[in-house]
Amino acid sequence: MFNRSRIRPAAVLFLVFSFVPRADERLDAAMDAIVTRLYAEKSLDQLRSLTPEQVEPYLTPDIRDALATAYWQFDVNVPAVVSVMRHVKQQTAPSWLAEAGFTKTDLVVRNESCDYEVWQKRFEAGRVALGINGFDGHRFCYFVCVGSQTPGAEVRVSNVLPADPPIGRMDAGATTYTDWTELVLTEVPDALRGHVLLTTYRGRARECHLFGGFRETPFPSSDNPDQITLTWSENPKTTQAVLWRTNTSVANGTVRYREKAAPNVRAIDVRASLEPIDDRMLTNDRTSHRHTAVMRNLKPGTTYAYKVGESERNVWSEEYEFTTAPASGDAFSFVHLTDTHNREVAGKLLAAAYARESRPSLVTISGDLVDYGLHRDCWDKLFAYLGEPIARIPVIPSIGNHDDQDGLGPGTFLKQFALPSPNFEGLPAERACAIRYANALFLVIPIGLSVETIGAWLEQELAATDATWKFGIYHFPMYSTDPEYAGYYDKQESIWARVFDKYHLDFMLTGHTHNYERHKPIYGGKEVDSPNDGTVYLVSAPGHYSTFDIRGRELDFKTIDAKGNVTDTLTIKK
Ligand SMILES: [Fe+2]
Repeated sequence: MFNRSRIRPAAVLFLVFSFVPRADERLDAAMDAIVTRLYAEKSLDQLRSLTPEQVEPYLTPDIRDALATAYWQFDVNVPAVVSVMRHVKQQTAPSWLAEAGFTKTDLVVRNESCDYEVWQKRFEAGRVALGINGFDGHRFCYFVCVGSQTPGAEVRVSNVLPADPPIGRMDAGATTYTDWTELVLTEVPDALRGHVLLTTYRGRARECHLFGGFRETPFPSSDNPDQITLTWSENPKTTQAVLWRTNTSVANGTVRYREKAAPNVRAIDVRASLEPIDDRMLTNDRTSHRHTAVMRNLKPGTTYAYKVGESERNVWSEEYEFTTAPASGDAFSFVHLTDTHNREVAGKLLAAAYARESRPSLVTISGDLVDYGLHRDCWDKLFAYLGEPIARIPVIPSIGNHDDQDGLGPGTFLKQFALPSPNFEGLPAERACAIRYANALFLVIPIGLSVETIGAWLEQELAATDATWKFGIYHFPMYSTDPEYAGYYDKQESIWARVFDKYHLDFMLTGHTHNYERHKPIYGGKEVDSPNDGTVYLVSAPGHYSTFDIRGRELDFKTIDAKGNVTDTLTIKK
């Protein structure tokens, strides 16, 4: 039996501390309290045109303290001067700055896009607590540097909360936003040079966004399932994942499926797992439920009928069909899209591709599925426009910079799809994956992770496969004629392209620039004549879709525009 007298002091301390919210949780709770009260007391129009005066009454002493101290915290080992670099184009300086005793100096810091004014305050050794960037969502949020008050003393910054982005040194050439490493400082005054630089990411501007931050979804959730989407999280021959959305009144989800050609066999029910998606700024449908179920032990090359819903209330979607991957087949088609950006045209393109005589078995999308990856209204548009085809053929999506927005991570993307995990050290779950379908291998390559680690993973997958056709799906164009991207992907080129050369990747499917380009096959960094000797790097664009018809060792590639014109073709025979 539990004996109270045996609790040791360390355990007591742990129990006490475990009830103190971390700074980031405290700030989040403060914003939640403000927004929840605003929803209760303001109309939609008032929310859309909020002013600082209207927000003022909601700032209780506790909330005000959280806003002024819980945004960014760290320890310094010596008495220090803390500098806050604030973009001069941000209309108003956050009010906590002057209230906390920071003073504006004459110093100016610059990068190619911004001038920053410098606010400073002296701190004793110990904890430094800083406030929010403001309610305005200003995207070039402030960053910080720390210097010693005593010349020569080494400054060490530790226990940084909430995040732990890289720590650098103030100097020309230094990166300040981890999600935009190419934007470097061009001008740093002598007084700040060598100070410890606390980098940040632009997405932090959104943490406390209130003015102009409220949105509405044109496709709110209901208690009927919608956004029904097929993906693969396991073997396409024997499993099928299905995801769908409901409102928060629906806590249970079930997929009910049966083999289509065996109508007398009893249907099987599989329970779904549930994940809420909370988008605080969505005025008309803040939280929705995403349900995910995986059907297993399926027969290869077999058509199944399924519906999703709630067995308790006997509420079901209409019935859809899917077909598992063939056991040993070598003929199939797929369709490729990119940069769909929650636009209606993407749905029209997919509908046209789906209506083809050689019906696609799957659809690949090489990133930027939506404009703003953390705005659920964008996803609601995407799913509404893509519509029913993705309830019948699985999607293989890769993450684009818009899906993993401003350094905030692809959290909402990951909740919308169930994908395999790479089982590779250094690669997080569902971010990189290899999917084998018939005689083809699809390698979904993530952005924003170590190029070296991905290179090692690509080598492992390509060395192990006996697939006839190999496709990479990646958002950024490794080769582009656009001068803006010259040299941008040199690292990927030097590491990944060598792996592609070694194992002969057939196609690298990319996007991002919104300019359609199909490069001549490339091997060893040079153009070659035959696709059998090099990799075809495709930069797709919105307004087009591409189809791949594979028959054994023959592949027919076509690109078709929104009017149905064939704009590009290529045939490969191995
Ligand atoms: Fe992009």
